[in-house]
Amino acid sequence: MVRVTLESMNDTIDLTDNRALRDVLGRFGTGVCVVTGRDDDGNTVGMTCQSFMGVSLDPPLVLISVMKTSRTLPHLKTSSGFAVSVLGEGDEAISAMAGSKAPDKFDHVPLCPTEGGHRVIDGAPAWFVCGLEAWVEAGDHELLIGRVVEAGPAVSDRRPLMFHDSRYASLLDESVLPVAADLSGLLTATGADTWF
Ligand SMILES: Cc1cc2nc3c(=O)[nH]c(=O)nc-3n(C[C@H](O)[C@H](O)[C@H](O)COP(=O)(O)O)c2cc1C
Repeated sequence: MVRVTLESMNDTIDLTDNRALRDVLGRFGTGVCVVTGRDDDGNTVGMTCQSFMGVSLDPPLVLISVMKTSRTLPHLKTSSGFAVSVLGEGDEAISAMAGSKAPDKFDHVPLCPTEGGHRVIDGAPAWFVCGLEAWVEAGDHELLIGRVVEAGPAVSDRRPLMFHDSRYASLLDESVLPVAADLSGLLTATGADTWF
């Protein structure tokens, strides 16, 4: 059992200290994605993005959070929409390249076309092609909600690349986690109240 003492609850940070806030937020582990779109000349542009989540199954909606300073952001809000590729274990170099400001970064990232003509990361364990459904300004970021029009692959045995505490991380073998058995009923249920 975890006991939270009054002392630890009083151990708070200064919310104007960006570094401290990032450290606390960074304790929420996530996967890592690369978001891609097209510029006016049809070239692939994009960025690394850990702020991704599934929002709705019906209709199929996902969400990304993008810094307003991102050069990619305006290209994600055009009629051609955007794609989200989930990175797999071993894709740290792709994450670093897409997360850089290198002008030619997608010359160094392996891409492949989807049936609909978007370009996603070759071998990604999961990818989603989206039309822009809505966006919301949120402080120094914009939240983009995408309606998924194409997704795949149907099957993948690649483990996801994880990000935690400002570092890349990897999943333990899921079979050793005792909670897996408890969740199996929920994850295979198909009722209206099914969570992902
Ligand atoms: C692991 C990782 C996760 C990131 N997650 C996000 C994110 O969720 N949202 C965001 O706006 N930027 C995120 N970034 C930063 C952008 O990828 C980075 O600022 C990039 O240079 C933006 O490129 P652009 O200006 O060409 O769009 C992340 C970077 C890394 C390496």
